[in-house]
Amino acid sequence: MPEIVAITGATGFIGRAIVRHLHEAGYPLRALVRSDASRRLLQGQVEEFIAGDLSDLGALEQLASGASAVVHCAGVVRGVTQADFDRVNVEGVRRLVTVLRQPGRPTRLLSLSSLAAREPQLSFYALSKRRGEQVLEQEGEGLQWLALRPPAVYGPGDRELVPLLRLMARGLAPVPGRREARFSMLYVEDLARLVHAWLRRDAVDSGLYSLHDGRAGGYSWAEVAAIVEGICGRRVRLLPLPATLLSLLARANRRFAPLLGRAPMLTPEKLRELRHPDWVCDNEAIGRVLDWSPRVGLEEGLRNTPGWR
Ligand SMILES: NC(=O)c1ccc[n+]([C@@H]2O[C@H](COP(=O)([O-])OP(=O)(O)OC[C@H]3O[C@@H](n4cnc5c(N)ncnc54)[C@H](OP(=O)(O)O)[C@@H]3O)[C@@H](O)[C@H]2O)c1
Repeated sequence: MPEIVAITGATGFIGRAIVRHLHEAGYPLRALVRSDASRRLLQGQVEEFIAGDLSDLGALEQLASGASAVVHCAGVVRGVTQADFDRVNVEGVRRLVTVLRQPGRPTRLLSLSSLAAREPQLSFYALSKRRGEQVLEQEGEGLQWLALRPPAVYGPGDRELVPLLRLMARGLAPVPGRREARFSMLYVEDLARLVHAWLRRDAVDSGLYSLHDGRAGGYSWAEVAAIVEGICGRRVRLLPLPATLLSLLARANRRFAPLLGRAPMLTPEKLRELRHPDWVCDNEAIGRVLDWSPRVGLEEGLRNTPGWR
């Protein structure tokens, strides 16, 4: 009988996929949740709920107590200032590390970083993810930690990529940067399987690990458009978006963010990330330490992703 696994961010897109997978694999789960609605969402898949968020040291202590490992999926992907991101993506990791370094706590931590952390100069988000990794590197002594650097993750439950896919299904693929830009992708269930593989393995060298769907060299926009064409049976044309227009939109978003009452996705910093020409990663290091290889390529993954065609 597997021991209890603690999880943060269980209500998020990636967290929910991990919860589903681990629950089906027979792991008892304990989740940190911020609302009753979150409890209802996860009811039946999660054994125990701890009320609180990443700023609540007491809640994190309860979350970790008696667990065999912690899977840290909570994070913010939208924000306007560096502080918006650091509060959760850096300080959240630091608090978890502080809790796990106390005697009698689990020493295994898998934390979701991002491939964006490889280019911390590009955006507030990217820098916050890199700083979160640095907390593990500098303060994680005595822990067996793993910081995963996924590229763009997609699949059932995704909200970020689906609007873009909807446009593609209607025949237009907006290209925010250079046409020849390349990027890796990952189907969410393959990420969940990797977490399971990590739990099964007793000891894994602490460190930063990138991962992708098995396509070495990633994809170009034209290659993604061709896959969508095959699925939808219609021509998909690339539509390069003018840099000045995007920049205007991003600046307007930031300016009016306080009026909108919610953090916008497209900000000037996010735009630099989107226009970066190389988001390709590899599976070499992760393949050496875990018995895992991706199973779902982009075409199959897109066919399994509802809500866009
Ligand atoms: N999606 C991607 O393509 C991708 C790629 C690379 C890396 N990542 C990383 O993977 C992680 C999960 O991403 P996602 O796409 O699943 O994000 P998401 O859907 O926005 O989910 C975020 C999760 O974090 C929780 N959360 C946010 N702030 C919190 C706080 N202060 N205390 C406790 N919980 C908090 C949210 O809880 P509530 O439900 O209560 O709001 C939610 O469960 C993030 O760290 C992200 O940086 C994502």
